[in-house]
Amino acid sequence: MRGFVILDFGSQFTQLIARRLRELGFYSEIHSFEYPTDEIRKKNPYGIILSGGPNSVYEKGSPQRDVAELRNISPVMGVCYGMQLLTHQLGGKVTKAEHREYGLNYVTWSSPIPGVPQKQKVWMSHGDVVEKVPEGFSIIGMSDGNHPAAMQGPDVLAVQFHPEVAHTEHGLDLLKHFASGMCKAPSDWDAPHIKDILIKEAQEKVGPTDHVLVGLSGGVDSTVVATLLTKALGPERVHCVFVDNGLLRKNEFESVLESYHRIGLNVKGVDASEEFLSQLKGKEDPEDKRKTIGRVFIEVFDKSYDHSLPIKWLAQGTLYPDVIESVSSVGGSVTIKSHHNVGGLPEKMKLGLVEPVRELFKDEVRALGVQLGLPSEMLWRHPFPGPGLAIRVLGEVTKEKLKILQDADEVYISELRRRGLYEKIWQAFCVLLPVKTVGVQGDSRTYDHVLALRAVTSSDGMTADWYPFEFQFLREVSNLITNKVKGVNRVVYDVTSKPPGTIEWE
Ligand code: XMP
Repeated sequence: MRGFVILDFGSQFTQLIARRLRELGFYSEIHSFEYPTDEIRKKNPYGIILSGGPNSVYEKGSPQRDVAELRNISPVMGVCYGMQLLTHQLGGKVTKAEHREYGLNYVTWSSPIPGVPQKQKVWMSHGDVVEKVPEGFSIIGMSDGNHPAAMQGPDVLAVQFHPEVAHTEHGLDLLKHFASGMCKAPSDWDAPHIKDILIKEAQEKVGPTDHVLVGLSGGVDSTVVATLLTKALGPERVHCVFVDNGLLRKNEFESVLESYHRIGLNVKGVDASEEFLSQLKGKEDPEDKRKTIGRVFIEVFDKSYDHSLPIKWLAQGTLYPDVIESVSSVGGSVTIKSHHNVGGLPEKMKLGLVEPVRELFKDEVRALGVQLGLPSEMLWRHPFPGPGLAIRVLGEVTKEKLKILQDADEVYISELRRRGLYEKIWQAFCVLLPVKTVGVQGDSRTYDHVLALRAVTSSDGMTADWYPFEFQFLREVSNLITNKVKGVNRVVYDVTSKPPGTIEWE
Protein backbone atom coordinates (compact mmCIF):
# COMPACT_ATOMS: atom_id res chain seq x y z
CA MET A 1 0.00 0.00 0.00
CA ARG A 2 1.47 3.35 -1.02
CA GLY A 3 1.45 5.93 1.75
CA PHE A 4 3.72 7.87 4.08
CA VAL A 5 6.89 6.73 5.79
CA ILE A 6 7.46 8.08 9.28
CA LEU A 7 10.98 7.73 10.60
CA ASP A 8 11.09 7.38 14.37
CA PHE A 9 13.80 9.35 16.15
CA GLY A 10 12.50 8.34 19.57
CA SER A 11 9.63 10.70 20.29
CA GLN A 12 6.85 9.46 22.53
CA PHE A 13 4.43 10.91 19.95
CA THR A 14 5.65 9.09 16.84
CA GLN A 15 2.67 6.72 16.88
CA LEU A 16 0.37 9.70 17.02
CA ILE A 17 1.75 11.07 13.75
CA ALA A 18 0.77 7.82 12.04
CA ARG A 19 -2.64 7.79 13.68
CA ARG A 20 -3.41 11.35 12.72
CA LEU A 21 -2.41 10.77 9.09
CA ARG A 22 -4.60 7.68 8.98
CA GLU A 23 -7.48 9.58 10.54
CA LEU A 24 -7.12 11.97 7.63
CA GLY A 25 -7.29 9.00 5.24
CA PHE A 26 -3.56 8.69 4.46
CA TYR A 27 -1.94 5.29 4.99
CA SER A 28 1.28 5.60 6.98
CA GLU A 29 3.96 3.34 8.39
CA ILE A 30 6.50 3.88 11.16
CA HIS A 31 10.06 2.71 10.80
CA SER A 32 13.23 3.15 12.78
CA PHE A 33 15.27 6.24 11.87
CA GLU A 34 17.87 3.84 10.40
CA TYR A 35 15.44 2.22 7.95
CA PRO A 36 17.43 1.71 4.73
CA THR A 37 16.97 4.29 1.99
CA ASP A 38 16.51 1.57 -0.63
CA GLU A 39 13.61 0.12 1.32
CA ILE A 40 12.00 3.53 1.56
CA ARG A 41 12.49 4.07 -2.15
CA LYS A 42 10.83 0.72 -2.91
CA LYS A 43 7.76 1.87 -1.03
CA ASN A 44 7.51 4.89 -3.30
CA PRO A 45 6.03 7.00 -0.47
CA TYR A 46 4.01 10.11 -1.11
CA GLY A 47 5.96 11.78 1.68
CA ILE A 48 8.45 11.14 4.49
CA ILE A 49 8.09 12.51 8.02
CA LEU A 50 10.96 12.79 10.48
CA SER A 51 9.60 12.48 14.01
CA GLY A 52 10.62 14.30 17.15
CA GLY A 53 13.07 12.80 19.60
CA PRO A 54 14.58 13.39 23.03
CA ASN A 55 18.12 14.14 21.82
CA SER A 56 20.00 17.20 20.70
CA VAL A 57 21.47 16.86 17.19
CA TYR A 58 24.91 17.67 18.61
CA GLU A 59 24.76 15.06 21.31
CA LYS A 60 27.14 12.13 20.94
CA GLY A 61 25.13 9.11 19.86
CA SER A 62 22.08 11.13 18.79
CA PRO A 63 20.15 9.44 15.97
CA GLN A 64 21.37 10.78 12.62
CA ARG A 65 20.66 10.02 9.02
CA ASP A 66 21.35 11.58 5.67
CA VAL A 67 18.26 13.62 4.92
CA ALA A 68 19.47 14.95 1.56
CA GLU A 69 18.96 11.52 -0.03
CA LEU A 70 15.44 11.36 1.40
CA ARG A 71 14.59 14.55 -0.46
CA ASN A 72 15.30 12.71 -3.72
CA ILE A 73 12.51 10.27 -2.89
CA SER A 74 9.60 12.49 -1.88
CA PRO A 75 8.71 15.69 -0.01
CA VAL A 76 9.95 15.65 3.59
CA MET A 77 8.44 17.01 6.78
CA GLY A 78 10.37 17.43 10.01
CA VAL A 79 8.73 17.61 13.42
CA CYS A 80 10.68 19.06 16.39
CA TYR A 81 13.94 17.02 16.38
CA GLY A 82 13.11 16.35 12.71
CA MET A 83 13.29 20.10 12.01
CA GLN A 84 16.61 20.38 13.82
CA LEU A 85 18.04 17.39 11.99
CA LEU A 86 17.02 18.85 8.63
CA THR A 87 18.66 22.13 9.59
CA HIS A 88 21.82 20.51 10.88
CA GLN A 89 22.23 18.17 7.93
CA LEU A 90 21.43 20.62 5.20
CA GLY A 91 23.93 23.30 6.26
CA GLY A 92 21.96 25.43 8.74
CA LYS A 93 22.69 25.89 12.43
CA VAL A 94 21.00 24.63 15.58
CA THR A 95 21.85 26.03 19.03
CA LYS A 96 20.75 25.59 22.60
CA ALA A 97 17.90 27.97 23.37
CA GLU A 98 18.34 30.51 26.14
CA HIS A 99 14.96 29.49 27.41
CA ARG A 100 13.34 26.17 26.60
CA GLU A 101 9.81 26.03 25.28
CA TYR A 102 7.67 23.39 26.96
CA GLY A 103 3.91 23.16 26.78
CA LEU A 104 1.47 25.57 25.24
CA ASN A 105 2.74 28.30 22.95
CA TYR A 106 1.63 30.29 19.90
CA VAL A 107 2.99 30.36 16.39
CA THR A 108 2.51 33.36 14.16
CA TRP A 109 2.64 32.32 10.54
CA SER A 110 4.12 34.70 7.99
CA SER A 111 3.14 32.44 5.11
CA PRO A 112 -0.46 31.23 5.29
CA ILE A 113 -1.21 27.51 5.62
CA PRO A 114 -4.70 26.50 4.40
CA GLY A 115 -7.06 25.90 7.32
CA VAL A 116 -4.58 27.15 9.93
CA PRO A 117 -5.15 30.53 11.62
CA GLN A 118 -2.39 33.10 11.35
CA LYS A 119 -1.85 32.78 15.09
CA GLN A 120 -2.01 29.12 16.03
CA LYS A 121 -2.08 27.54 19.48
CA VAL A 122 0.52 24.79 19.59
CA TRP A 123 2.22 22.37 21.95
CA MET A 124 6.01 22.46 22.11
CA SER A 125 8.71 20.54 23.89
CA HIS A 126 12.24 21.53 22.91
CA GLY A 127 15.49 22.90 24.26
CA ASP A 128 17.37 23.45 20.96
CA VAL A 129 16.39 25.98 18.31
CA VAL A 130 17.18 26.71 14.69
CA GLU A 131 19.55 29.67 14.58
CA LYS A 132 20.18 29.72 10.82
CA VAL A 133 18.09 27.92 8.21
CA PRO A 134 19.77 25.98 5.39
CA GLU A 135 20.31 27.77 2.10
CA GLY A 136 17.14 27.99 0.03
CA PHE A 137 14.96 27.75 3.17
CA SER A 138 12.93 30.46 4.85
CA ILE A 139 11.31 30.85 8.23
CA ILE A 140 7.55 30.91 7.89
CA GLY A 141 6.43 30.88 11.53
CA MET A 142 7.74 32.30 14.83
CA SER A 143 6.89 31.26 18.37
CA ASP A 144 5.77 33.66 21.07
CA GLY A 145 9.22 33.21 22.57
CA ASN A 146 10.61 34.60 19.26
CA HIS A 147 12.12 31.32 18.08
CA PRO A 148 11.73 29.91 14.58
CA ALA A 149 8.71 27.62 14.81
CA ALA A 150 8.39 26.60 11.16
CA MET A 151 10.55 26.65 8.06
CA GLN A 152 10.06 25.81 4.45
CA GLY A 153 12.37 24.83 1.60
CA PRO A 154 11.84 23.21 -1.78
CA ASP A 155 9.57 20.24 -1.04
CA VAL A 156 10.35 20.45 2.69
CA LEU A 157 8.23 21.64 5.59
CA ALA A 158 9.50 21.61 9.16
CA VAL A 159 7.89 22.62 12.41
CA GLN A 160 9.34 23.00 15.89
CA PHE A 161 6.05 22.10 17.59
CA HIS A 162 4.02 18.88 17.58
CA PRO A 163 1.07 19.04 15.14
CA GLU A 164 0.14 15.45 16.06
CA VAL A 165 -0.84 16.08 19.71
CA ALA A 166 -4.37 17.02 20.68
CA HIS A 167 -3.23 20.21 22.45
CA THR A 168 -2.08 21.71 19.15
CA GLU A 169 -5.06 23.35 17.51
CA HIS A 170 -5.38 22.83 13.76
CA GLY A 171 -2.57 20.28 13.88
CA LEU A 172 -4.55 18.05 11.52
CA ASP A 173 -4.87 20.92 9.04
CA LEU A 174 -1.13 21.29 9.00
CA LEU A 175 -0.59 17.57 8.40
CA LYS A 176 -3.23 17.69 5.69
CA HIS A 177 -1.43 20.61 4.07
CA PHE A 178 1.73 18.50 3.90
CA ALA A 179 0.00 15.29 2.79
CA SER A 180 -2.39 16.55 0.18
CA GLY A 181 -1.08 20.07 -0.57
CA MET A 182 2.62 19.31 -0.83
CA CYS A 183 2.68 15.55 -1.48
CA LYS A 184 -0.54 15.37 -3.55
CA ALA A 185 -1.48 12.13 -1.78
CA PRO A 186 -5.01 10.79 -2.27
CA SER A 187 -7.05 10.36 0.90
CA ASP A 188 -8.13 6.75 0.39
CA TRP A 189 -7.45 4.93 3.67
CA ASP A 190 -10.90 4.12 5.03
CA ALA A 191 -12.71 1.09 6.46
CA PRO A 192 -14.31 -0.22 3.22
CA HIS A 193 -10.96 0.04 1.45
CA ILE A 194 -9.11 -1.57 4.38
CA LYS A 195 -11.60 -4.45 4.41
CA ASP A 196 -11.15 -5.12 0.68
CA ILE A 197 -7.36 -4.99 0.93
CA LEU A 198 -7.21 -7.32 3.93
CA ILE A 199 -9.61 -9.87 2.46
CA LYS A 200 -7.56 -10.01 -0.71
CA GLU A 201 -4.29 -10.28 1.23
CA ALA A 202 -5.66 -13.13 3.37
CA GLN A 203 -6.85 -15.03 0.28
CA GLU A 204 -3.45 -14.65 -1.35
CA LYS A 205 -1.49 -15.60 1.74
CA VAL A 206 -3.50 -18.64 2.78
CA GLY A 207 -4.08 -19.93 -0.74
CA PRO A 208 -7.10 -21.81 -2.09
CA THR A 209 -6.97 -25.01 0.00
CA ASP A 210 -5.23 -24.42 3.34
CA HIS A 211 -7.17 -24.15 6.58
CA VAL A 212 -6.63 -21.62 9.40
CA LEU A 213 -6.91 -21.92 13.16
CA VAL A 214 -7.97 -18.94 15.28
CA GLY A 215 -7.82 -18.65 19.06
CA LEU A 216 -10.69 -16.48 20.23
CA SER A 217 -10.40 -14.53 23.47
CA GLY A 218 -13.75 -12.78 23.56
CA GLY A 219 -12.02 -9.49 22.76
CA VAL A 220 -12.34 -7.18 19.77
CA ASP A 221 -9.14 -8.07 17.96
CA SER A 222 -9.56 -11.82 17.71
CA THR A 223 -13.27 -11.43 16.88
CA VAL A 224 -12.51 -9.06 14.00
CA VAL A 225 -9.71 -11.30 12.73
CA ALA A 226 -11.92 -14.41 12.79
CA THR A 227 -14.78 -12.61 11.06
CA LEU A 228 -12.53 -11.15 8.39
CA LEU A 229 -10.94 -14.53 7.65
CA THR A 230 -14.33 -16.24 7.63
CA LYS A 231 -15.47 -13.70 5.01
CA ALA A 232 -12.29 -14.21 3.01
CA LEU A 233 -12.01 -18.01 3.15
CA GLY A 234 -15.39 -19.35 4.25
CA PRO A 235 -16.29 -20.89 7.65
CA GLU A 236 -15.33 -24.42 6.63
CA ARG A 237 -11.68 -23.34 6.34
CA VAL A 238 -11.54 -21.09 9.42
CA HIS A 239 -11.60 -23.10 12.66
CA CYS A 240 -12.04 -21.02 15.79
CA VAL A 241 -11.37 -22.24 19.30
CA PHE A 242 -12.64 -20.45 22.41
CA VAL A 243 -11.12 -21.79 25.60
CA ASP A 244 -12.82 -21.41 28.96
CA ASN A 245 -9.88 -21.07 31.32
CA GLY A 246 -12.20 -20.48 34.27
CA LEU A 247 -10.70 -17.02 34.56
CA LEU A 248 -13.35 -15.15 32.60
CA ARG A 249 -16.04 -12.87 33.98
CA LYS A 250 -19.26 -14.36 35.32
CA ASN A 251 -21.24 -16.22 32.61
CA GLU A 252 -18.96 -14.71 29.99
CA PHE A 253 -17.94 -17.98 28.35
CA GLU A 254 -21.54 -18.96 27.56
CA SER A 255 -22.67 -15.54 26.41
CA VAL A 256 -19.63 -14.86 24.22
CA LEU A 257 -19.77 -18.33 22.68
CA GLU A 258 -23.37 -17.72 21.79
CA SER A 259 -22.48 -14.38 20.13
CA TYR A 260 -19.77 -16.14 18.10
CA HIS A 261 -22.35 -18.60 16.82
CA ARG A 262 -24.71 -15.76 16.04
CA ILE A 263 -22.17 -13.95 13.84
CA GLY A 264 -21.51 -17.12 11.89
CA LEU A 265 -18.11 -18.25 13.14
CA ASN A 266 -17.15 -21.90 12.98
CA VAL A 267 -16.26 -22.06 16.65
CA LYS A 268 -15.61 -24.79 19.19
CA GLY A 269 -15.92 -23.97 22.87
CA VAL A 270 -13.56 -25.90 25.16
CA ASP A 271 -14.07 -26.02 28.92
CA ALA A 272 -10.63 -26.35 30.50
CA SER A 273 -11.31 -24.42 33.68
CA GLU A 274 -10.37 -27.30 36.02
CA GLU A 275 -7.06 -27.80 34.24
CA PHE A 276 -6.09 -24.14 34.59
CA LEU A 277 -7.14 -23.95 38.21
CA SER A 278 -5.28 -27.06 39.25
CA GLN A 279 -2.10 -25.86 37.53
CA LEU A 280 -2.38 -22.47 39.24
CA LYS A 281 -2.62 -24.07 42.68
CA GLY A 282 0.00 -22.72 45.06
CA LYS A 283 1.30 -20.13 42.59
CA GLU A 284 1.49 -16.58 43.94
CA ASP A 285 3.96 -14.76 41.75
CA PRO A 286 2.30 -12.82 38.88
CA GLU A 287 4.85 -13.84 36.27
CA ASP A 288 4.66 -17.46 37.40
CA LYS A 289 0.86 -17.30 37.05
CA ARG A 290 1.12 -15.75 33.58
CA LYS A 291 3.63 -18.34 32.38
CA THR A 292 1.53 -21.19 33.77
CA ILE A 293 -1.58 -19.89 32.02
CA GLY A 294 0.38 -19.49 28.78
CA ARG A 295 1.70 -23.04 28.99
CA VAL A 296 -1.65 -24.65 29.85
CA PHE A 297 -3.29 -22.64 27.10
CA ILE A 298 -0.93 -24.06 24.50
CA GLU A 299 -1.54 -27.61 25.76
CA VAL A 300 -5.32 -27.18 25.72
CA PHE A 301 -5.35 -25.41 22.39
CA ASP A 302 -3.20 -28.09 20.81
CA LYS A 303 -5.68 -30.78 21.85
CA SER A 304 -8.72 -28.79 20.85
CA TYR A 305 -8.91 -29.20 17.10
CA ASP A 306 -9.02 -31.96 14.57
CA HIS A 307 -5.41 -32.66 13.56
CA SER A 308 -6.46 -34.44 10.39
CA LEU A 309 -7.53 -31.11 8.88
CA PRO A 310 -5.06 -29.40 6.53
CA ILE A 311 -4.43 -26.58 8.98
CA LYS A 312 -1.31 -24.67 7.96
CA TRP A 313 -1.92 -21.31 9.56
CA LEU A 314 -2.57 -19.76 12.93
CA ALA A 315 -4.29 -16.37 12.95
CA GLN A 316 -3.45 -13.77 15.58
CA GLY A 317 -4.88 -10.37 16.40
CA THR A 318 -1.52 -8.59 16.62
CA LEU A 319 -1.97 -4.82 16.35
CA TYR A 320 0.30 -2.14 14.96
CA PRO A 321 1.46 -0.78 18.34
CA ASP A 322 2.82 -4.28 19.20
CA VAL A 323 4.76 -4.28 15.96
CA ILE A 324 6.22 -0.79 16.17
CA GLU A 325 7.30 -1.02 19.77
CA SER A 326 9.97 -3.40 18.60
CA VAL A 327 11.36 -1.07 15.91
CA SER A 328 11.46 2.11 17.95
CA SER A 329 14.74 3.96 17.98
CA VAL A 330 14.60 4.45 21.72
CA GLY A 331 16.00 0.98 22.27
CA GLY A 332 14.41 -2.07 23.84
CA SER A 333 12.15 -1.11 26.67
CA VAL A 334 12.29 -3.30 29.75
CA THR A 335 9.68 -6.01 30.09
CA ILE A 336 7.27 -4.83 32.73
CA LYS A 337 4.84 -7.70 32.34
CA SER A 338 5.08 -10.66 30.01
CA HIS A 339 1.81 -10.38 28.14
CA HIS A 340 0.32 -13.68 27.31
CA ASN A 341 -1.93 -14.23 24.35
CA VAL A 342 -1.06 -17.07 22.04
CA GLY A 343 2.70 -16.43 22.08
CA GLY A 344 4.83 -19.51 21.49
CA LEU A 345 2.07 -21.39 19.69
CA PRO A 346 3.10 -21.12 16.05
CA GLU A 347 6.62 -22.52 16.59
CA LYS A 348 5.38 -25.44 18.61
CA MET A 349 2.59 -26.29 16.22
CA LYS A 350 4.68 -25.65 13.12
CA LEU A 351 2.11 -23.29 11.69
CA GLY A 352 2.56 -20.16 9.61
CA LEU A 353 1.26 -16.92 11.10
CA VAL A 354 -1.56 -14.85 9.64
CA GLU A 355 -1.88 -11.46 11.30
CA PRO A 356 -4.44 -9.58 9.20
CA VAL A 357 -4.69 -6.51 11.47
CA ARG A 358 -1.00 -6.07 12.29
CA GLU A 359 -0.94 -2.80 10.33
CA LEU A 360 -3.94 -1.35 12.18
CA PHE A 361 -4.50 0.69 15.30
CA LYS A 362 -7.31 -0.27 17.67
CA ASP A 363 -9.70 2.39 16.36
CA GLU A 364 -9.13 1.10 12.82
CA VAL A 365 -9.86 -2.47 13.97
CA ARG A 366 -13.16 -1.27 15.43
CA ALA A 367 -14.02 0.59 12.22
CA LEU A 368 -13.22 -2.57 10.28
CA GLY A 369 -15.47 -4.53 12.66
CA VAL A 370 -18.33 -2.14 11.91
CA GLN A 371 -17.67 -2.62 8.20
CA LEU A 372 -17.82 -6.39 8.71
CA GLY A 373 -21.22 -6.00 10.35
CA LEU A 374 -20.22 -6.91 13.94
CA PRO A 375 -22.59 -5.76 16.68
CA SER A 376 -21.40 -2.78 18.69
CA GLU A 377 -21.44 -4.64 22.02
CA MET A 378 -18.73 -6.92 20.64
CA LEU A 379 -16.66 -4.01 19.36
CA TRP A 380 -16.87 -1.74 22.38
CA ARG A 381 -15.96 -4.15 25.14
CA HIS A 382 -13.26 -3.09 27.53
CA PRO A 383 -9.91 -4.77 26.88
CA PHE A 384 -9.52 -7.93 28.94
CA PRO A 385 -6.11 -9.46 29.66
CA GLY A 386 -5.24 -12.96 28.41
CA PRO A 387 -4.63 -14.30 31.96
CA GLY A 388 -8.03 -12.89 32.89
CA LEU A 389 -9.12 -12.74 36.49
CA ALA A 390 -6.01 -14.65 37.59
CA ILE A 391 -4.10 -11.36 37.68
CA ARG A 392 -6.99 -9.66 39.49
CA VAL A 393 -7.05 -12.15 42.33
CA LEU A 394 -3.77 -11.08 43.88
CA GLY A 395 -1.64 -13.95 45.07
CA GLU A 396 -2.89 -17.52 44.86
CA VAL A 397 -6.01 -18.10 42.75
CA THR A 398 -8.70 -20.32 44.21
CA LYS A 399 -12.22 -21.15 43.10
CA GLU A 400 -13.68 -19.35 46.12
CA LYS A 401 -11.74 -16.14 45.47
CA LEU A 402 -12.64 -16.23 41.78
CA LYS A 403 -16.31 -16.48 42.69
CA ILE A 404 -16.09 -13.45 45.00
CA LEU A 405 -14.33 -11.46 42.29
CA GLN A 406 -16.81 -12.50 39.59
CA ASP A 407 -19.77 -11.53 41.75
CA ALA A 408 -18.30 -8.15 42.66
CA ASP A 409 -17.25 -7.48 39.08
CA GLU A 410 -20.76 -8.21 37.85
CA VAL A 411 -22.23 -5.61 40.23
CA TYR A 412 -19.63 -3.00 39.29
CA ILE A 413 -19.83 -3.46 35.51
CA SER A 414 -23.63 -3.59 35.43
CA GLU A 415 -23.78 -0.35 37.41
CA LEU A 416 -21.39 1.27 34.94
CA ARG A 417 -23.54 0.13 32.03
CA ARG A 418 -26.80 1.11 33.71
CA ARG A 419 -25.52 4.65 34.29
CA GLY A 420 -24.01 5.10 30.79
CA LEU A 421 -20.47 5.21 32.17
CA TYR A 422 -19.11 2.03 30.57
CA GLU A 423 -18.38 3.67 27.20
CA LYS A 424 -16.60 6.60 28.82
CA ILE A 425 -14.04 4.32 30.41
CA TRP A 426 -11.19 2.43 28.75
CA GLN A 427 -11.14 -0.35 31.30
CA ALA A 428 -12.92 -1.00 34.58
CA PHE A 429 -12.56 -3.98 36.88
CA CYS A 430 -12.31 -5.19 40.45
CA VAL A 431 -9.22 -6.52 42.18
CA LEU A 432 -9.45 -8.92 45.10
CA LEU A 433 -6.70 -8.13 47.58
CA PRO A 434 -4.92 -10.78 49.64
CA VAL A 435 -5.74 -8.78 52.73
CA LYS A 436 -8.57 -9.34 55.16
CA THR A 437 -9.89 -6.63 57.41
CA VAL A 438 -12.33 -6.47 60.27
CA GLY A 439 -15.81 -5.23 59.57
CA VAL A 440 -19.22 -5.19 61.11
CA GLN A 441 -22.22 -6.44 59.20
CA GLY A 442 -25.62 -7.13 60.75
CA ASP A 443 -24.34 -6.52 64.28
CA SER A 444 -21.67 -9.15 64.02
CA ARG A 445 -17.96 -8.97 63.44
CA THR A 446 -16.65 -10.02 60.01
CA TYR A 447 -13.13 -10.71 58.83
CA ASP A 448 -13.28 -10.55 55.04
CA HIS A 449 -11.51 -9.44 51.89
CA VAL A 450 -10.77 -5.92 50.68
CA LEU A 451 -11.87 -5.28 47.14
CA ALA A 452 -10.34 -2.52 45.00
CA LEU A 453 -12.23 -0.88 42.16
CA ARG A 454 -10.23 0.34 39.18
CA ALA A 455 -11.44 2.47 36.26
CA VAL A 456 -9.12 4.22 33.83
CA THR A 457 -9.27 6.35 30.75
CA SER A 458 -6.66 5.78 28.07
CA SER A 459 -6.28 5.78 24.31
CA ASP A 460 -3.97 2.82 23.95
CA GLY A 461 -3.27 1.32 27.37
CA MET A 462 0.29 2.69 27.37
CA THR A 463 -0.57 5.57 29.67
CA ALA A 464 -3.76 5.90 31.68
CA ASP A 465 -5.52 8.08 34.19
CA TRP A 466 -8.01 7.07 36.86
CA TYR A 467 -11.61 7.95 36.16
CA PRO A 468 -13.07 10.73 38.35
CA PHE A 469 -16.32 9.10 39.49
CA GLU A 470 -18.74 11.18 41.47
CA PHE A 471 -18.63 10.35 45.18
CA GLN A 472 -22.26 9.31 45.07
CA PHE A 473 -21.49 6.62 42.50
CA LEU A 474 -18.66 5.22 44.60
CA ARG A 475 -20.84 5.28 47.69
CA GLU A 476 -23.64 3.39 45.96
CA VAL A 477 -21.43 0.78 44.28
CA SER A 478 -19.56 0.18 47.52
CA ASN A 479 -22.87 -0.37 49.32
CA LEU A 480 -24.17 -2.68 46.62
CA ILE A 481 -21.02 -4.78 46.65
CA THR A 482 -20.74 -5.16 50.42
CA ASN A 483 -24.45 -5.98 50.62
CA LYS A 484 -24.58 -8.43 47.73
CA VAL A 485 -21.19 -10.08 47.61
CA LYS A 486 -20.37 -12.49 50.34
CA GLY A 487 -16.69 -12.36 51.30
CA VAL A 488 -16.10 -8.61 50.87
CA ASN A 489 -16.51 -6.18 53.74
CA ARG A 490 -14.43 -3.24 52.49
CA VAL A 491 -14.22 -1.47 49.11
CA VAL A 492 -11.52 0.99 48.04
CA TYR A 493 -11.02 2.99 44.84
CA ASP A 494 -7.64 3.10 43.11
CA VAL A 495 -6.53 6.68 42.33
CA THR A 496 -3.23 5.87 40.62
CA SER A 497 -2.45 6.82 37.05
CA LYS A 498 -0.11 4.91 34.70
CA PRO A 499 2.71 5.70 35.20
CA PRO A 500 3.58 5.25 38.03
CA GLY A 501 1.10 2.38 38.41
CA THR A 502 0.16 -0.09 35.70
CA ILE A 503 -3.47 -0.65 34.73
CA GLU A 504 -3.63 -4.15 36.19
CA TRP A 505 -2.39 -4.73 39.72
CA GLU A 506 -0.27 -7.72 38.81
P1 XMP B 1 -0.73 -2.84 32.25
O1 XMP B 1 -1.22 -3.55 33.46
O2 XMP B 1 0.59 -3.37 31.75
O3 XMP B 1 -1.78 -3.17 31.12
O4 XMP B 1 -0.73 -1.35 32.40
C1 XMP B 1 -1.87 -2.55 29.86
C2 XMP B 1 -2.96 -3.26 29.10
O5 XMP B 1 -2.58 -4.62 28.87
C3 XMP B 1 -3.50 -5.51 29.49
N1 XMP B 1 -2.71 -6.60 30.05
C4 XMP B 1 -2.58 -7.79 29.47
N2 XMP B 1 -3.12 -8.26 28.33
N3 XMP B 1 -2.05 -10.31 28.71
C5 XMP B 1 -2.85 -9.55 27.95
O6 XMP B 1 -3.35 -10.02 26.93
C6 XMP B 1 -1.47 -9.91 29.87
O7 XMP B 1 -0.73 -10.65 30.53
C7 XMP B 1 -1.77 -8.58 30.27
N4 XMP B 1 -1.37 -7.82 31.33
C8 XMP B 1 -1.98 -6.61 31.19
C9 XMP B 1 -4.22 -4.69 30.54
O8 XMP B 1 -5.49 -5.24 30.83
C10 XMP B 1 -4.28 -3.34 29.86
O9 XMP B 1 -5.32 -3.29 28.90
